[in-house]
Amino acid sequence: MSGHGVALRVVACGKTFADGTRALAPVTLDVGRGETAVLLGPSGCGKTTLLRIIAGLETPDPGGRVLFGDSDVTGVPIERRNVGMVFQSYALFPNMNVADNIGYGLKVRGVGEAERKARVAALVALTGIEGLERRRIDQLSGGQRQRVALARAVAVQPSVLLLDEPLTALDAALRERLRGELNRLLRTLGITTIYVTHDQAEAMALGDRIVVMREGAIAQIGTPRAVYFAPENRFVAEFVGAANLIEAACNGATLALPGGTLPVADGALHGPATAMIRPEAIKIVPAENASLIGLVDSVSFLGDRQRVLISAAATKVITADVPNAIALAAGDRVGLSVEPAAIRLLPGDTT
Ligand SMILES: Nc1ncnc2c1ncn2[C@@H]1O[C@H](COP(=O)(O)OP(=O)(O)OP(=O)(O)O)[C@@H](O)[C@H]1O
Ligand SMILES: [Mg+2]
Repeated sequence: MSGHGVALRVVACGKTFADGTRALAPVTLDVGRGETAVLLGPSGCGKTTLLRIIAGLETPDPGGRVLFGDSDVTGVPIERRNVGMVFQSYALFPNMNVADNIGYGLKVRGVGEAERKARVAALVALTGIEGLERRRIDQLSGGQRQRVALARAVAVQPSVLLLDEPLTALDAALRERLRGELNRLLRTLGITTIYVTHDQAEAMALGDRIVVMREGAIAQIGTPRAVYFAPENRFVAEFVGAANLIEAACNGATLALPGGTLPVADGALHGPATAMIRPEAIKIVPAENASLIGLVDSVSFLGDRQRVLISAAATKVITADVPNAIALAAGDRVGLSVEPAAIRLLPGDTT
């Protein structure tokens, strides 16, 4: 039951609601067949609105179009788009048991009982809920319900699978486990998937590509690695992962900072720049021969590493995540080093 997805195209879809709220500026997005694209952005940035337009629950403003493969589905209602959906609230049928919930869409479509049973059994195994088939929904845990919702959504072999924060209601440990399972499931099924979240760790773990959204527009589209290591603007740098954003003058070879200098890669720009450096890219070295010197403000033990706040090196406090074997205390004078390739220069101080 894999490979039923279609390529998805969203062309210039904007959305202004009846009350005048402009939820979405015209956005254009291409998602490949079988690809998982994650819509990531802060609350209110338009993620659900875009998902609902793709589902057919919302009409885009005039000029916007949605294509599934070669067919223009802009005017096609949800029940004829062949989409599978899972929302944050599970919306399962409480009076039906697990197996009937999963098989519901198949029954509606007139799939015969034998085939229905076989497909439900396969999905029960795939989502790891064996033994719960006869249980009612209100007898399940949150994580189990979410698996049933997922199995039900993919049972009908949708062209496009739409998931809106499906793990949000769960506790942190379960979320992380289900995230891993979901990742495996999406790869196995090969369905074209749009996954909405405001959790950047979830986005990186699940997305073939991440669509970072801000105030109804797309701030960047790229692989998780591209978005993390090469953010195109300050917003993306700060929203995806932790980032030090350091204002400094660049002369093409080094950044001049209050505590010294840092070498940058060849071809770097000249003039004022914002340098983005991830906390884990900063190494603490002996102060003697270091080109950049700072003072340890505080040290927090994070288990697998320690987080060090360093002042006096830049115009603001720098955050460094370093191995916890290094003995450090507040007040220590330390050297800092960063590989030139790990310094991303963002143009000007544009936001
Ligand atoms: N039916 C509606 N009428 C008017 N405004 C709406 C309507 N639905 C959503 N909005 C507004 O559109 C904007 C985008 O909403 P949307 O639900 O798409 O955000 P979101 O990115 O999914 O946020 P969250 O992460 O909180 O779920 C918000 O400002 C919201 O208040
Ligand atoms: Mg939403």
